[in-house]
Amino acid sequence: MAIGELCLSNGAVRKRSTGQDMFMGKGDRKDSYVRSNSQMQMISNSLFPIFLEAVDAMRLPNPQLGPMTVAEFGSSSGQSSIDNVGAVLRRLKSRYDLEIGPEPEYQVFFQDMPSTDFNSRIKLLNEAILSNEDTEAVDFFAAAVPGPLYGRLFPQSTLHFAFATFAINCLSRIPESVSDRSSPAYNGGQTGLYRSSAATMEAYSAQAKEDLLNFLAARAEEMSDEGVLCLNFRCRDSGISSPYSTAHEVIGDCIWDDFVDKGIISASTRDAFNPLHYWRTVQEVKEVLSNFSSEFHVEKQMQHQVHLPAGGHDVTPSDEAVPVSKSMLLVGRGVSSALLRAHFGREVTSLYLERYEQVLMDRIGNHTLSYYQPITWFVVVLVRKAREYDF
Ligand SMILES: C[S@@+](CC[C@H](N)C(=O)[O-])C[C@H]1O[C@@H](n2cnc3c(N)ncnc32)[C@H](O)[C@@H]1O
Repeated sequence: MAIGELCLSNGAVRKRSTGQDMFMGKGDRKDSYVRSNSQMQMISNSLFPIFLEAVDAMRLPNPQLGPMTVAEFGSSSGQSSIDNVGAVLRRLKSRYDLEIGPEPEYQVFFQDMPSTDFNSRIKLLNEAILSNEDTEAVDFFAAAVPGPLYGRLFPQSTLHFAFATFAINCLSRIPESVSDRSSPAYNGGQTGLYRSSAATMEAYSAQAKEDLLNFLAARAEEMSDEGVLCLNFRCRDSGISSPYSTAHEVIGDCIWDDFVDKGIISASTRDAFNPLHYWRTVQEVKEVLSNFSSEFHVEKQMQHQVHLPAGGHDVTPSDEAVPVSKSMLLVGRGVSSALLRAHFGREVTSLYLERYEQVLMDRIGNHTLSYYQPITWFVVVLVRKAREYDF
């Protein structure tokens, strides 16, 4: 295969998660993640340097022993992952140049759900390769790896550097009990989690724990000795009862309640919708990590507050209400419109998104909603401990 060419590899998906497929907006339509993630890129710009420090600190594999493998889990089809992978490769290349001399070949795996628009990914990657006049560009072999990241996707000990940005807030599935009317965890009456009962939160917490355990167990197999795994995801500061609010959910519930009142949807249709995302607490993450002390050394674990945009204000200046609400709408669309369409149908989802933009604009304009609240992210850098071989 020529350098820079893409092939689609299925990976060895031995243990499939029971989860539903992700419904991230596809392609380059206006509701796609490709278009929506400029805001995510801002957050990434603030967090990604921590991953690059991990590249600087890692032990470089011997270039004579085979390719250096890099994997991005939950890469989506957007430009940001190409930029992130490019930054990692340039950093690796400069270390090989300075410290070792001969360079390895680089193999990059872009991993995501089978429903991901890998065609857009291939198009973007080819455009990037063709238009690349960057003299520091690094040649690499690329492959797309479709499959759920909560199970095995790669052979044992094969990944040298892997990362997941904003991916593991998505659960493998919605906990069953939250849709069960007879369960105390039933989450009827809302479409999000910010006003949910303690029992609902417990159900999400348990699912998030199981998923993170499965994710790390699979990566513990796949990472090579001294391979580095970097993760970032949104989190909450303290215990399970700590506030759980996002502007998207708060506004969303108001609109869905109004749609029920007006008879646009039935109450049972609203009640049957539940989020697939969960913001873990710091304790929840640390608890799961403590199960992997034989496999991983925790090089770094830190909370990181991100202000959007950098600098932060308490309220949005009136003349920024329109651009800010459009930017928030793009994120809402990219992350959830396909999920909403699958549940509520195309027409109702379009109506919802129109209303959503209007409510955003009104609330930002009259200062009852601030875009500038800091968001807490958790960043983890793990190094695979060397295995003990008995031969
Ligand atoms: C918010 S996007 C982040 C994309 C990209 N990493 C970035 O930084 O912009 C989350 C990605 O994780 C993927 N994802 C979520 N759950 C997944 C799962 N169980 N298996 C594989 N990919 C998953 C989604 O399909 C989506 O592309």
